[in-house]
Amino acid sequence: MPALLEGRGIAVRFGGVAALKGVDLSVDPGEVLSVIGPNGAGKTTLFNVITGRVRPTQGSVLYRAQPIDKLAPFRIAQLGVVRTFQKTEVFGALPLVEGVAAGALARNDPDPAERAREALATVGLYGKAHLTAAQLSYGDQRLLEIAQALAADPKVLLLDEPASGMNHQESRRIVDLIVQLRARGLAVILVEHNMHVVMTISDRVIVINYGEKIADGKPDHVRNDARVIEAYLGAPQAAHAVAR
Ligand SMILES: Nc1ncnc2c1ncn2[C@@H]1O[C@H](COP(=O)(O)OP(=O)(O)OP(=O)(O)O)[C@@H](O)[C@H]1O
Ligand SMILES: [Mg+2]
Repeated sequence: MPALLEGRGIAVRFGGVAALKGVDLSVDPGEVLSVIGPNGAGKTTLFNVITGRVRPTQGSVLYRAQPIDKLAPFRIAQLGVVRTFQKTEVFGALPLVEGVAAGALARNDPDPAERAREALATVGLYGKAHLTAAQLSYGDQRLLEIAQALAADPKVLLLDEPASGMNHQESRRIVDLIVQLRARGLAVILVEHNMHVVMTISDRVIVINYGEKIADGKPDHVRNDARVIEAYLGAPQAAHAVAR
């Protein structure tokens, strides 16, 4: 059986910068794959390639065994490959339910408002549906972004640093949410610097360093890999994340 989503030999050059140098990855339904690595390693670029915002210089992305790397971002999202962004991008002045419904509208859902209410309930914001995004705490705004993505009915959900800037209690909600989404059969690809979050919920972890995949395996395997410790886990930033 081919993987639900597969990246083969993904390479990206930005002028003189080789942001990705032949990265392979795959994810299946009900699986959480984390992508970790130092700042500038190429993690967000990988998300940009998978979701059609950046064309790979080499390599391909297959979804249900069909190439998607030449499709427009909205087509890829309609197929079920949906992302959130590293920096919060919420509709500040709209009631939550309207902002979230935009995710469902994009895929021609017959009842976007109902999809939005379901998505808000999933992330625990149903009781705040009448508020505007600007009235939410930072932690709730990040959950709102995930609700927006969920309203588009993803099969593969890509989360770019969902727990960044969160306190322990807020990041705990992210962990619980991801566990719940995995149980529903979603494939989740997670970029996250909080190692507690990554090591708690990942089925597999890949490590990228300067655009190159240096490890791929179960969390325990990756955590003890000498190259990974040298390139990333030994770094103050990650040590801090573990300590939190
Ligand atoms: N649109 C772009 N044009 C030129 N260079 C880019 C572009 N996007 C990313 N880069 C470069 O590609 C490299 C990888 O960046 P990327 O944002 O993918 O890293 P990252 O792993 O997500 O880092 P962080 O952990 O800081 O979010 C960096 O050197 C970055 O400066
Ligand atoms: Mg990034």
